[in-house]
Amino acid sequence: MGGINPYQDTTEPALPTKAYRITFEPLGKTIEVDPSQLPVSDEGFPGSILDIAMGAGIELDHACGGVCACSTCHVVIEQGAASCQEASEDEEDMLDSAPGVQLNSRLGCQAVPNGQADIVVRIPGWNRNHAKELH
Ligand code: FES
Repeated sequence: MGGINPYQDTTEPALPTKAYRITFEPLGKTIEVDPSQLPVSDEGFPGSILDIAMGAGIELDHACGGVCACSTCHVVIEQGAASCQEASEDEEDMLDSAPGVQLNSRLGCQAVPNGQADIVVRIPGWNRNHAKELH
């Protein structure tokens, strides 16, 4: 499910300008991200962690359809967090309602890496039952 939340700022962050790798833990799955192929799904911001996960067949939970209106896509960026654009106020507000929030917590549907670093994303334990590979 994709869509637009009319109550949120939907300005799309810039897509990365160079290729990078993103690793999803604890699945241990690394994906090569080619900016020219983005978006790879219709979930979340184009090039977002959720977009990349869904395009790679990693079913990251996203109850609101990737429009910054839940927090089920919560992930912790363990490496390379600085390469994602800053969280918006709307994202920060939504993260406040997520369990187990950490310093580098982000909403997968909102965080868009710029390609300046390889990143490692951990799917929190409470969300892990929902995160599985589709293929
Ligand atoms: S999917 Fe709902 S906030 Fe990301």
